[in-house]
Amino acid sequence: MKLWGGRFTKPTNKLVDEYTASISFDQKLAAFDVQGSLAHVDMLAKCDIISHEDSTTIAKGLKVVAKKISNGEAELTQENEDIHMNIEKLLIDEVGAVGGKLHTGRSRNDQVALDMRLYLRDALVTITQLLDELQHALYQQATANLDTVLPGYTHLQRAQPVLFAHHMLAYVFMFQRDMERIIDSWKRVNRSPLGAGALAGTSFPIDRHYVADQLGFDSVIENSLDAVSDRDFVVEFLADAALITTHLSRLSEELVQWSSAEFNFIELDDAFCTGSSMMPQKKNPDVPELVRGKTGRVVGHLMGMLTTLKGLPLAYNKDMQEDKEGMFDTVETLKGALALFAPMIESMEVKKDNMYEAVVKDYSNATDLADYLVGKNMPFREAHAVVGETVLYSIEQQKYLLDLSLAEFQQFSNAIEADIYDVLAPKAVVNARNVAGGTAKNRVEEQLKQADALFASN
Ligand code: ARG
Repeated sequence: MKLWGGRFTKPTNKLVDEYTASISFDQKLAAFDVQGSLAHVDMLAKCDIISHEDSTTIAKGLKVVAKKISNGEAELTQENEDIHMNIEKLLIDEVGAVGGKLHTGRSRNDQVALDMRLYLRDALVTITQLLDELQHALYQQATANLDTVLPGYTHLQRAQPVLFAHHMLAYVFMFQRDMERIIDSWKRVNRSPLGAGALAGTSFPIDRHYVADQLGFDSVIENSLDAVSDRDFVVEFLADAALITTHLSRLSEELVQWSSAEFNFIELDDAFCTGSSMMPQKKNPDVPELVRGKTGRVVGHLMGMLTTLKGLPLAYNKDMQEDKEGMFDTVETLKGALALFAPMIESMEVKKDNMYEAVVKDYSNATDLADYLVGKNMPFREAHAVVGETVLYSIEQQKYLLDLSLAEFQQFSNAIEADIYDVLAPKAVVNARNVAGGTAKNRVEEQLKQADALFASN
């Protein structure tokens, strides 16, 4: 007989059981469900709603049930629909009819909202730790590459040289904003819906604040209708996660490009690559490729959740059971990617010489020739045209700017003097960007300090 079977005259159609049950996936919430129930039953006794003796019996029974579930000894069934009713049923089997007092003053609607928040709270802690490790791996590569120059790109065309440290720090700051978003979301997740009942509150003299305190929540959700129907904390998490994976995906794309023979800027450690079953020479960057690929499912979960919620009237609707799989999968996907990324970044080999070659064998110092002429009082637009012609000539001559003789330079402007060779050297070009946030070495060192201060404030 179903826990709610009293009002029914027929057994549920098997297909309905199969279709509506969530136990196959919400068993992930088992430990959190028990944690919530323990606090609830403790409060029921404190408020004299049930006796202390019953409360103790139920608490002991819940702990036995929790252990049986985690050992795989408990049978979780579709007939009992979800983790909440399965646990209640197992509790009654364990301690007898007194177990039926657990659900006093509570509904599955406030219970499931509670479990989701407890689960997410736990996940947020892990995700901030993993983000922190990734930031430090990137930071570490930055400090090791304060003298490594590579081409910076726009339109994936070589544009101006930058320090590899500068490039790594760009990601450090992106992940810092992601970290701040996750930390900020905590105050919206960490609030207790318990006591909202099915939708309207409860007629029992419960103490919502006491339970909230016991469970480490900052406060209770003000409105019972809101407490049971709000899933915006899930949407917010999915949005934050979508942005983190998008950042990871952009970095992945760069790692894949940089690992190619065409770029040959880095080599990922063997431990983070895979081979081909057919081509013996292959070493594939599967991890960043898959992280890039999995971004699709995370963004999909965000769209799915928003779409599920958009037409729902208050308060609880069964549609909301669809909040779980996307959230669980996002947490797992994100944890998986972040856990791999930190050691993969830390262990990658940076091919400094190849990066430098790519800077030298190119025209990415052209802006500096123009800026030099501006320094000689030529209007920038005119300088741009002069340098354009100089580059065109160099390409025709199969030379780079630094290969031109002074006489060749002077065909385009006699303002160019012998000091031009120092000005156009890669390090000089980098160090010329001596503006806050720029790629000059001292400005990159400044950014390292700024990143340090941000880490300390996390
Ligand atoms: N399994 C349900 C869910 O995940 C729990 C809440 C069910 N409440 C109800 N009144 N049917 O949403």
